[in-house]
Amino acid sequence: MQNFTYYAPTEVIFGEGTESRTGEEVKKWGGSRVLLVYGGGSVKRSGLLQQVEEALDKEQIAWTEYGGVKPNPRLSFAEKGVKKALEFGADFLLALGGGSAIDTAKAIAHGTANPDTNLWDIWTGKEPLEKSLPVGVVLTISAAGSEMSDSAVLTNETTGRKQGLSTPFNRVKFAVMDPRLTLTLPKYQVACGIVDIMMHTLDRYFTHTKGNEMTDEIAEALLRTVIRNGTKAYENPGDYAAASELMWCGSLSHNGLTGLGAEKDFAPHKIGHELSAKYDVAHGASLSAVWEAWALYVYREEPERFARYAQKVWGINCTDPIEAAEQGIRATAAYFKSLDMPVCIGELEIGVRAEEELLDMAKRCTGNDSFTVAKFKVLHQEDVLEILRMANHR
Ligand code: NZQ
Ligand code: ZN
Repeated sequence: MQNFTYYAPTEVIFGEGTESRTGEEVKKWGGSRVLLVYGGGSVKRSGLLQQVEEALDKEQIAWTEYGGVKPNPRLSFAEKGVKKALEFGADFLLALGGGSAIDTAKAIAHGTANPDTNLWDIWTGKEPLEKSLPVGVVLTISAAGSEMSDSAVLTNETTGRKQGLSTPFNRVKFAVMDPRLTLTLPKYQVACGIVDIMMHTLDRYFTHTKGNEMTDEIAEALLRTVIRNGTKAYENPGDYAAASELMWCGSLSHNGLTGLGAEKDFAPHKIGHELSAKYDVAHGASLSAVWEAWALYVYREEPERFARYAQKVWGINCTDPIEAAEQGIRATAAYFKSLDMPVCIGELEIGVRAEEELLDMAKRCTGNDSFTVAKFKVLHQEDVLEILRMANHR
């Protein structure tokens, strides 16, 4: 086990009806003028927006709306949000929605607290981030885990980069999580969320770090729970119990817990982000489209690790580690298919891509081969290109 620091300070308010407590929570965390950040309208249709506004009114908290965040949120939209927050004099950001609304709220919080600094310079680490505004969340989709993570992801439409920023300032103050709010999700979004939740643990699980029993067991239990309840939630959109399990797994999968004491890899995420930056592919679909190709490309670095995964997560008992590893990889892809998720680029709505487009993504992913990606197998530009070729059609 490697040394680690674990600090996941978000207050979680979980369960049916908890959104009515949003006003009290904002007040408790010092908010008096709130910018409400949300997406394309699902929170209006469900009545959540109105309910939260009433909860804020009850506590005499002033608020204004900033809706219209798109999936794979854009830098320019966050920058406009900073202007709006400054004009309003916001002292608190409240995100209603999923990763896209939450990450936009986080970005606006950083920009508003540092109005004289270019937001993308903060994002790329050129300018240090030393202060931000508090952010709260009412979660409506189990997926990205942004409600407890220390990261946020934005796409810079000028440079074509989709990039994450990890900082303790990205930890939100509180997350209201009512699983009932996820019952209105389209099936495709449920499936994208399941893949993403699994991937936040898988991208940590494939590591060469040894002697990390507790973390490994937590990761395996989480994966089994997501797989079991994912099928239920996908097949029965009204299943509150399954939705509850998914919601809690989604937060735990990305708050750091499932990878403590181990070296992190995250190659599928990095490659998936290139697909989303270039073609606006939904995040979860970008991950299922590249995972099998990545796994087949890297598993021989340590087949025993993949064999353990096959045994503990999929119940595959096979003494030959290579055979077990391959069976575990196939079982994972078959599970994605059972959720009607793409398992190659050709199955995405964008279809099979040309060699030069794959090369372009491999270049962006590795800064023209100026840096490497990942740890389980260190990937250079040529490796990323090969994975993309393998993922193109399977
Ligand atoms: O925009 P609205 O109308 O709200 O519709 C959304 C959106 O179209 C819809 N939706 C959400 N809740 C709903 C609902 N529709 C009906 N009923 C509901 N209850 O679902 C669609 C997807 O929403 P989005 O917020 O984009 O989903 P998700 O939570 O998957 O977030 C994806 C974004 O998060 C980033 C991804 O890269 C992507 O940009 N990630 C953020 C991370 C983080 N901050 O820690 C980590 C992740 O790895 C990920 O990279
Ligand atoms: Zn993710």
